[in-house]
Amino acid sequence: KPKFLNFEKKIKKYIPQHILNHLIQIGRVSSYMGFNSFVVGGIVRDIVLGKKNLDIDIIVEGDAIELARRYAKEKSLPVHTFEEFMTAQITLETGEKIDLATARKETYTHPGAYPKVEKASIKEDLYRRDFTINTLAIDITEGRFGILVDYFNGLKDIKDRMIRVLHQLSFIEDPIRILRALRFAGRLGFKLGKPTEKLLKLAVDENMLELAPSGRINLELSYSLNEDRVVDILLLMDRYRVLHSLIPEFYMDEKREELLSRLRDTIISFEMFFEIKIDRVSNYLLALLYHLPFELSYRFLEKYHFHKAVKFFEEYYEVKDLFKELPQKDSELYKKIKFIKKDVLAFISASSDIELSERIIRILKKEEERNLLLSGKDLKKLGIPPSSLYRKILDDVFKKYLDGEIKNKEEALKYVKTKYLSN
Ligand code: CTP
Repeated sequence: KPKFLNFEKKIKKYIPQHILNHLIQIGRVSSYMGFNSFVVGGIVRDIVLGKKNLDIDIIVEGDAIELARRYAKEKSLPVHTFEEFMTAQITLETGEKIDLATARKETYTHPGAYPKVEKASIKEDLYRRDFTINTLAIDITEGRFGILVDYFNGLKDIKDRMIRVLHQLSFIEDPIRILRALRFAGRLGFKLGKPTEKLLKLAVDENMLELAPSGRINLELSYSLNEDRVVDILLLMDRYRVLHSLIPEFYMDEKREELLSRLRDTIISFEMFFEIKIDRVSNYLLALLYHLPFELSYRFLEKYHFHKAVKFFEEYYEVKDLFKELPQKDSELYKKIKFIKKDVLAFISASSDIELSERIIRILKKEEERNLLLSGKDLKKLGIPPSSLYRKILDDVFKKYLDGEIKNKEEALKYVKTKYLSN
């Protein structure tokens, strides 16, 4: 029997007002059509955990497509329907998307495959899910709005910080859940329940991941590598021999563990300082694989369609020997790094000794400030007529700046005046 709890206050606290209004009205239309509708999945888990999450998934006991069409029409909102999956997606005025799915049972034709679907009750729909922490639902049907429905003890498992599957065959039916279990465990700092841990180990030992479609492995690994707590997740994946099962030659050691942590810090500082997005997936894959012969890494990357990472690895291998011998002057080191992408430099910086790492960052920061130090505008103000000489002067000044011979704009202007203006 399910447990019921009033979650109206919580839902109001964690879901923005304009989305909440839509949910209330969808609940009204749903009730009018004789359907029951529930917000389910990750968002409910995150509300319980006190975290914001804007992925709204609604399960409809009835017909999600009919409900979505009717509501979208009433509000003149765009709607996409996917008949074969019995799902629909409404886009709100403000851009957020609401996914609606007809409550269904799933049957798997073979392990790892995309499932076949058939209409069912909310309970059956929740039962087919991966872990108890993801089985909570909040009723939004008019008259019951805000009631939390807990069929499988999800609330208790969230409180106990436990990842548990719902039945024995979970990892066999969908081996991707092996990766998901460790992703959630790492992300949330949760433990695997004892029976769940046993089942997971068994599925890994039986090489179930081999049976999952490579595209789904790619997707799930990419999610993991983009998580904030990526290092914890990778350590769990090592502990449970998941990485080993994907890449037989893989091994973890202290050096690699340290590299992963340093890489994480480096990526965060690169992203903050340079206001760019670093390709985390490629970076972490390289950190995991760079001790292996390239052919082996290549085989893994190809098998799981990490095409961007292949390019990334190639770029890295092309330049890595440049750093075997280091010039004294930063301006000389700059010549080596200026053509290398920031994504690759993040890896080089994280995998080098601290001294080189700091030099690289110092140089990149200076490069970032290059225009503030001196620009064509400044040269014009000094009365130098625009010409190809500009590039030469600016390069010259920047070189001196890198080597610490010029420290600021004032010194830069003074240098230009004495060197280029006093005939
Ligand atoms: N699900 C599952 N088995 C999978 C993938 C997903 O049972 N292999 C279920 C989960 O119960 C999940 C729901 O489908 O709650 C939606 O999946 P997804 O959006 O990937 O998961 P979230 O829980 O929302 O995770 P995240 O916080 O990472 O978005």
